[in-house]
Amino acid sequence: MISTVKIPFLDLVTPHQELEPELMAVAKKAFDTAGFIGGPMVDEFEQAFAEFCDAKYCVGVNSGTDALRFAFLAAGIEPGGVVVTVPHTFIATTEAISQAGLRIAFVDIHEDTYTMDPDKLREYLENRCEFDAAQGKLIEKASRRAVSAVVPVHLYGQTADMDAILDLATKFNLVVIEDACQAHGAEYFSKKDGVWKKAGTMGLAAAFSFYPGKNLGACGEGGAITTNNEALAKRMRMIRDHGQAKKYYHDIEGYNGRLDSIQAGWLTVKLRHLARWNESRRALAHRYHELFADANGGIVVPREAAWTKGVYHLYVVRVQDREALQSYLAEAGVGTGIHYPIPLHQQKAYKHLGYKAGDFPVTERIAGEIVSLPMFPQLSHTQQDDIVNRTKEFLIAKVGIAK
Ligand SMILES: Cc1ncc(COP(=O)(O)O)c(C=O)c1O
Repeated sequence: MISTVKIPFLDLVTPHQELEPELMAVAKKAFDTAGFIGGPMVDEFEQAFAEFCDAKYCVGVNSGTDALRFAFLAAGIEPGGVVVTVPHTFIATTEAISQAGLRIAFVDIHEDTYTMDPDKLREYLENRCEFDAAQGKLIEKASRRAVSAVVPVHLYGQTADMDAILDLATKFNLVVIEDACQAHGAEYFSKKDGVWKKAGTMGLAAAFSFYPGKNLGACGEGGAITTNNEALAKRMRMIRDHGQAKKYYHDIEGYNGRLDSIQAGWLTVKLRHLARWNESRRALAHRYHELFADANGGIVVPREAAWTKGVYHLYVVRVQDREALQSYLAEAGVGTGIHYPIPLHQQKAYKHLGYKAGDFPVTERIAGEIVSLPMFPQLSHTQQDDIVNRTKEFLIAKVGIAK
């Protein structure tokens, strides 16, 4: 029997209630010491998060967007250079590129993984760019700009196919900055090196977001950059703090982009639970896969490539009439989302880039079909059964799949 209890798209209340005593202790410590900016709580979190990611350094900043922006700035990418990414991501990926004084170029995603398709990246680098021997640079033919970096986005908690992307980056001398904002703890099996690697350790640097709904979320804004490059970490520490390594000695112009101490303290508490929460997300995702196995093609569930161990930030399915499914589920009290409904190359903000409909067919097709179902570590099996049963009811009635 289907229960009438409402099922939120995301439950952010329960984990904070469960951890309330520890979280309150952090707040008390901050009030007692007036330690609001920098200090031991930030240091402790940075060390713990670097360890969690298997990275040498972590620099806490005030958002994932700034993490990306600061990584581009610290990497010393030549102003005006082209940065290649995907049109199927949150706009922060590309805002950071533009706001670092760089130019956005898109390549399409792979239909199975929703992450950057290395073949499309190769096609772009080989056919739309040429090596300029005089400048010693790879140049985008259309814009005559140097192509400087690539940003694979580990979307929905699954890593991009990094071996192929890193090979191309090496061949074409491109900096790789991972957008790991949705992939805390996700892993990638590098066939080349024969080892599993964590998201955040494969590029020159990686950006993480601690927006509250992320797998590791702050109780407000937060972000971090991970890197194995000491000089880069040092530069990013300066960039986030007005360009100073020592108070009032400004070697460069920087930003006010620090991670608050109290957020860092809360993140340290929550980080202790992240591995368990990620395991719970994975188990729920696999249970969704199984429960939908008899939906006879009426629904496309996420495919986890053999080379990725995803952390299911989102559980994104594809159906033919997704707005109708959303309404049907909403009537039953089930929350859903769409990540993301309009590809970036079709957003008004990027009209000036000159892309048109049809330029990225995979992105455009899936943007009209995707629906994110409830996914959070505390989702119960009863709730999940209700979501699946309601979805199947819809599919049988509207799309005509046999049960
Ligand atoms: C893929 C991706 N990149 C970047 C960001 C930016 O992170 P923030 O919201 O912390 O600035 C987000 C978060 O929403 C994201 O999902």
